Formats: sequence, structure tokens, C-alpha cells
Amino acid sequence: MNDDSSGISKFFAGFLTGDAPDNEFPAHGMEPLSAMRMIEEDLILDGIPERNLATFVTTWMEPEAQQLIVRNLHRNFIDHAEYPQTAEIEQRCIRMLANLFNAPGETTGARTQGSSEAIMLGALSLKWQWRKRREAAGAGTDKPNLVFGGDVHVVWEKFCRYFDVEPRIVPLQPDKYTIGPEDVEPHVDENTIGVAAVLGTTFTGHADDIIGINKLLVELRDEKGLDVPLHVDGASGGFVWPFLYPDYEWDFRLEQVRSINVSGHKYGLVYPGIGWLIFREEADLAEDLVFLENYLGKTDKTFTLNFSTGSAMVLAQYYTLVRFGHHGYTQVMETMQANARFLAKKISEIGPFQLIGDGTDQLPLVAFNLAEEAPYDEFDIAWQVAAERGWMLPAYTMPPKADHVTMLRALVKLNLGHALVHTLADDIAEACETLEKKGGASEKERAQVKTGVGY
Ligand SMILES: Cc1ncc(COP(=O)(O)O)c(C=O)c1O
Repeated sequence: MNDDSSGISKFFAGFLTGDAPDNEFPAHGMEPLSAMRMIEEDLILDGIPERNLATFVTTWMEPEAQQLIVRNLHRNFIDHAEYPQTAEIEQRCIRMLANLFNAPGETTGARTQGSSEAIMLGALSLKWQWRKRREAAGAGTDKPNLVFGGDVHVVWEKFCRYFDVEPRIVPLQPDKYTIGPEDVEPHVDENTIGVAAVLGTTFTGHADDIIGINKLLVELRDEKGLDVPLHVDGASGGFVWPFLYPDYEWDFRLEQVRSINVSGHKYGLVYPGIGWLIFREEADLAEDLVFLENYLGKTDKTFTLNFSTGSAMVLAQYYTLVRFGHHGYTQVMETMQANARFLAKKISEIGPFQLIGDGTDQLPLVAFNLAEEAPYDEFDIAWQVAAERGWMLPAYTMPPKADHVTMLRALVKLNLGHALVHTLADDIAEACETLEKKGGASEKERAQVKTGVGY
């Protein structure tokens, strides 16, 4: 008897016996379970996010936060008229972050998809404000430039290309992976829309000399009448410095800091899809960039690059802010820092490595490279720990003029506890032993190494 009451044959026909649709729009669908299983089988070939030591992005959230996310996936964030409480929760997050960053009074900001969108919007505002100042002075507006170091994330160059601004990039130096006022000064002129400084670079986790750059910009303003704003890219550091290094004044305590971006989905402890742009004062947001719309039942102000988007990560960010509070975030950051320091100690005990910027203010990570001659290099190590244990440990070369330096970097997030750090350090030591014996990775293995800094 051909009884298929269990639905098994439909399930099998669905995906176990055929190729995954990958080109033509499928003529027929498949059972929900088959679709789910088929996609999950594909994903088995991906790396395991918890073993991704390259990413700054959150790979673990509490079950309660996950429930909140799942229950709110159907809520379109932009429908402010229909979901006024969601809009209010966004504003609460903006006010709390402005408070964390020591804004002097009432301010404004925006929820974004991540720091990239926040930087595009913040830099657009710098451009618009600069143009307004130049027009008021009867001066030309056709040659805007933006000054930043080679230690920035690629999004800054992207902004310059997309929005027609000359990038003035200060190259790094062989032993100096951040920038300071002496690097910035030669590049600033009357066409500079702003200077961008990084709090927690992607490459080594350190901060530019933000205090020094601010001092320079204050002097230029007072002595030469050049009012150049400073934007701080706190994609990672914006949620770390206030808790680990509260005395370091990098934020709105400094006069020329007019805007700050931070990724909620990095050390803000939320899954991917949330960033924030915070202005010092309402007047720092160029009003021409704000659109008034009444499509959705109520006149609404929008300042975003996209329109419809999810609410879940905004709600998840509010969850983490109220769940942890200042005290809880401090504990979380101190835990990650303690584990990062433990990893740094274990790595230095392995032998051939030097730690980069150890003992200075840094994100909870370990940046290191080979200090001695070895029959293998950093890329070989990245390959070997991936092959032996599945760790995704990024190896990359530094930006120009430090590009002869190769780096390994391990992020220490909440899913990497003390015991796992121990295992990771042992795995790195074992990978080095294997490489020592075999004399480095083979050509075929080297060809498969994934290079790149990781985000
Ligand atoms: C310093 C810095 N700025 C900007 C970005 C881009 O952030 P997002 O991935 O949130 O768009 C990153 C990402 O790693 C970063 O490290």
C-alpha cells in the first residue's frame, strides 16, 4: 500500500534527492520543513559564529532578548504613526547614548543599520554644514575634503567616493598604527568638512589621539577662524571606553566633537542590524537632510538612507541598555577585558609572539604577530588553527605605510569564557608545533587562507 500519511515522501522529494534551486525561479515550492532543512544544510558549510574570532559583531544574546527579537520581527520600524512606542523607544536609546557620551544638553540622532550608515549620514551632515558656512562667507563649495587616518574602516573612503569628497588619508607609520594632531595638521584647510578619529580601530583596537586632535582643532578655530568639526568613529569603542576607561575624554566633553557613531551590534551587545548616530546638539544635524513625510498617517521626520526596516534590533538594544545598565555594562566589559588579558598572557607564553599595544587602552581583543624568525608566518597560523579546530583567527597586513606588518587578532566577546580562552591558546600553540614540524603551510593550504581584517 502506498500510504504517505506521514508525509515522508513529500519531505524526501523536497530536498534530499535533488539539487538546491540556485538559478531559475523555482516552478513549484516545497514543504516548509524541507525548505528549512535545505537551507540549514547549506549553512552547515559556513563557519560557526562563536568560533569567529574575526568579528566584532555580537554572536550571543540572552534567551529573553532572543524572544523579544522573534516576537517583533513583523514590526516595521518606519511606521511611526502605527508604532509610536517603538519610535519612542528609539528616542530613549538616543537620549541614553547621548547621556553616556556626555552631551551637554538636548540633542538628536538616528537609529541606523550599523556604523556604516551612521557614518554616511554623519559625514553628509558635515558636508552640508560646511557648504552652508562657505556659502555664508561667499566662498567656493566645489572642493570639499575629509581628513582621516589610514587606520579607519573602509566606510570612510566609501563615503568620500559615493558623495564626492576628497579623502585626505594620513598614512600609518611602521610602528604607529593610530594618528594624532601632528598627522592631521598638514591636511586641514578651509575646504575640510571635518576630521574623523577612531575610538578602537579595526586593526589593533587602539584609539587615535582624540584629545590631541581636538586641541589642534580648537587652536585652528581660535587662531585662524577655521571651525573644523571632529566626528568620532566609536563603532566598537563607543560601548567600551565609557565603561573601561571613563576618565579618558574622547566624547562630547571635547568641544570640537560634534557627532559620534557607535555600532549597537558590536560591543553594544545586540545581534547584527543596529547602529547609532548621535549629534552633540540639534543644530549639528543639517536641517536640509531631514525629510518631512506623511505617507504613513502622520507627518514624520526622517533622516535615514533606507526606509522600511526591522524594529527588533532597536527593541533588543533597549533591552540591553535597561537589562545591564551602566553597572552591568561595566561588568561585561571588565569580564571580556580580563579574558582578553588572559589570552594575551597565554599567547606570549607560547614563545614566538609579540603583543601589539599591550597594557594600553584597547578594545577587549588580542592583536599579535611573530616576533622571531619561524619556518611559518601569520597566514600559516590562521590556516592551521582553522584546519585543526575550526577557529576563524584573522591574519591580515596593516594599511599603507605599515603594510609590511602582518597581524593576527582575536576578539574576546561574551561567548569566549575563561575555559574556552585556555583551549584557544592551547590550540594556537599546537598549530605552531604542527607548523614547526611540517615547515609551514603547503602552497595549496596557503591558497585557501582567508585573509582580511574581519568586522
Ligand atoms: C572602526 C569601525 N568603523 C566602522 C565600521 C563599520 O561598522 P558596521 O559594520 O556597524 O557598519 C567598523 C566595522 O568593523 C569599524 O570597526
